[in-house]
Amino acid sequence: MKLPSRTALRAALGATFSVLTVGAAVLTASPASAAATLGASAAQSGRYFGTAVAAAKLSDSTYTSILDREFNMVTPENEMKMDATEPAQGQFSYGNADRIVDHALSHGMRVRGHNLAWHQQQPGWMQGMEGAPLRQALLNHVTQVATHYRGKIYAWDVVNEAFADDGSGGRRDSNLQRTGNDWIEAAFRAARAADPDAKLCYNDYNIEDWSAAKTQGVYRMVQDFRSRGVPIDCVGFQSHFGNGGPPGSFRTTLAGFAALGVDVQLTELDIAQAPPAAYAATTTACLNVPRCTGITTWGIRDSDSWRSGENPLLFDGGGNKKAAYTSVLDALNAAPPVTTTPSTPTTTPTTTTTTPTPTTTTTPTTTTTAPPPGGCSATVSLNAWNGGFVATVRVTAGSADLAAWTVTLTVPAGAQVTNAWNVQHSGDSWSNVSYNGHVPAGQYTEFGFQASGSGTPVVTGCA
Ligand code: G3I
Repeated sequence: MKLPSRTALRAALGATFSVLTVGAAVLTASPASAAATLGASAAQSGRYFGTAVAAAKLSDSTYTSILDREFNMVTPENEMKMDATEPAQGQFSYGNADRIVDHALSHGMRVRGHNLAWHQQQPGWMQGMEGAPLRQALLNHVTQVATHYRGKIYAWDVVNEAFADDGSGGRRDSNLQRTGNDWIEAAFRAARAADPDAKLCYNDYNIEDWSAAKTQGVYRMVQDFRSRGVPIDCVGFQSHFGNGGPPGSFRTTLAGFAALGVDVQLTELDIAQAPPAAYAATTTACLNVPRCTGITTWGIRDSDSWRSGENPLLFDGGGNKKAAYTSVLDALNAAPPVTTTPSTPTTTPTTTTTTPTPTTTTTPTTTTTAPPPGGCSATVSLNAWNGGFVATVRVTAGSADLAAWTVTLTVPAGAQVTNAWNVQHSGDSWSNVSYNGHVPAGQYTEFGFQASGSGTPVVTGCA
């Protein structure tokens, strides 16, 4: 990956970040009591806080004391990758990965498996393979490794970094891709068969900006998988940021993917120079999306980082808490505690309608969670062309009449609303006008708007 360009991008975007409140009926309004560690404070809202761990550092007592005190999720940094687990074809090697898993489970932590399939860190024997033999070898690898860890893994990064950075929104070229475009779903199906209880994630970098072609490419793949029943449960946003922190649309991106019916997770977070505000904005973006289930930093101390020259983590080389640590802890402690079991949004798998012309797409898109009695739900249909779109938003009453309604809807970053009808709006708040506030139980009304730009509006609430 090309970190300097990403750093420059993030720096250009700046640290500004919109904090939005989303409908979270499962959360109480009372503030959380302040917990003293990252893991405990994340747990208050039903989330985890994790770190990447290197097996070689488990003998470092400073390292393990921070690990055991602060974190409740662990990702092996390199030890589960293909070159480590199958160094010779058909011969599996789990020693270092097992040490990490055993340490985590014996200290009450869970494990994210990373990863089952990637174009990088392939063992030498695999690098030279192509076609059907490679496909067979890949699926055997997925099956063997997921079976070895069956019952011990919270979530697997089944496939890592399969999309291109060239602005096309398409797949990257690799020997795996050349076995056929269905290689990703084949890997997910093999992983599900081997470990039915592990959540299965697609994991990538530079998919945090909603308007990026790569983000939209991954979104379309997940949307397609959900509509066809391919077993995918989560999307990992690596979140390797420059010192500007996350893009302003990060929360929109997380909410957009979550609306497809998958969990979202920040899987490899680090931020150049670790600005406290950037870390707080990143944490808050996750906290504001009910299906953002946890955050993992890519290492513990700056000296443990793959970007050690940028001091991007929460602890300095001596193991001391940095200012960024405090900002993350405070943000986690500011989240309302969970008082009931988090609900699973009942999103309908989305479908894509055949385009009537080469330049126009009609895409019934995101849905909100099922409306509570007396509440409402909203869906967006998009008619898009090169450079603009018309969105039609349908507001449906729940089991009681609505006297008035407000939809929380975020327009994609960079898009400009040029006109709107049957609605009054301010920022992300879209409300009825005088003649369409009353919606009988089970009935609907519609409003719309036209915008320049591209992307998909995201609905996160209706009340
Ligand atoms: O352990 C050997 C050592 O014996 C040898 O002397 C040394 C010489 O180069 O290499 C050491 O192995 C290195 C390994 O990290 C452990 O430090 C590899 O060369 C090096 O390539 C490897 O880098 C890892 C990188 O993935 C490989 O692509 C980083 O640690 C790891 O943090 C990084 O993690 C990735 C995620 O898996 C996916 N997302 C991006 C992220 C950062 O690149």
